[in-house]
Amino acid sequence: MKWMKRLLFLVFAYSVCSILDRVKDRWYVFKPDYLHELAQAAVHEHPNDINAIIPYIVSNLTTEYSPRVVAINPNSSEWVLNNAGGAMGAMYIIHASITEYLIIFGTPLGTEGHTGMHTADDYFNILVGEQWAFDPPKLEMEVYKAGSVHHLPRGHVKQYKMHEGCFALEYARGWIPLMLPFGLADVFSSTLDYWTFYHTVRITARENIRNLLLGKI
Ligand SMILES: *[C@@H]1O[C@H](CO)[C@@H](O)[C@H](O)[C@H]1NC(C)=O
Ligand SMILES: *[C@@H]1O[C@H](CO)[C@@H](O)[C@H](O)[C@H]1NC(C)=O
Repeated sequence: MKWMKRLLFLVFAYSVCSILDRVKDRWYVFKPDYLHELAQAAVHEHPNDINAIIPYIVSNLTTEYSPRVVAINPNSSEWVLNNAGGAMGAMYIIHASITEYLIIFGTPLGTEGHTGMHTADDYFNILVGEQWAFDPPKLEMEVYKAGSVHHLPRGHVKQYKMHEGCFALEYARGWIPLMLPFGLADVFSSTLDYWTFYHTVRITARENIRNLLLGKI
């Protein structure tokens, strides 16, 4: 009887997950190709100048996307440090909702780590510098330069390196809350940087609520 109940519960949970997986697309606002073109245009206009690239991208997004459809955070001074998968950098959250996020992530120092195992598709548009990746059994490194995009399909994992100074426009789509434990776990197991944790949660929650109020999940 107990096993029957557990089995029924598993079937039920599986059904809910597969339905959620099928319907998530309807809330997507951003398009990977559009963001890639925008990142390329920004790199072309301001090569190697992250301080000019970021306002270029944000003003494009605030012009092209109606504030009635999607909430964009225009404050590009709002950076938080982030440790995940052994890598460290900082991020500026441009958009955060339940099915998508768009951030600038990077560091002028370089860093290296595990991409994390995610339930979302990830598009890493390099703005400045290079990102390197290792995807065994392929033993040659992958090199992504400014203007290129590194697409990490969901469920796929690699070792990556932000080689020396590197910044990227990162777009993820899928059920984002499932990614948060990877992004935040290091606070509890390693950095104990609760001040950064507080700001990360505060900004993420604020942007999610701004989107939910527009009906954008
Ligand atoms: C925004 O970027 C896209 C892609 O590069 C471009 O087609 C569009 O004209 C830009 N819009 C503005 C207002 O700059
Ligand atoms: C932008 O973010 C910075 C850093 O968090 C903050 O000091 C500043 O007040 C913010 N500006 C606005 C207009 O909200």
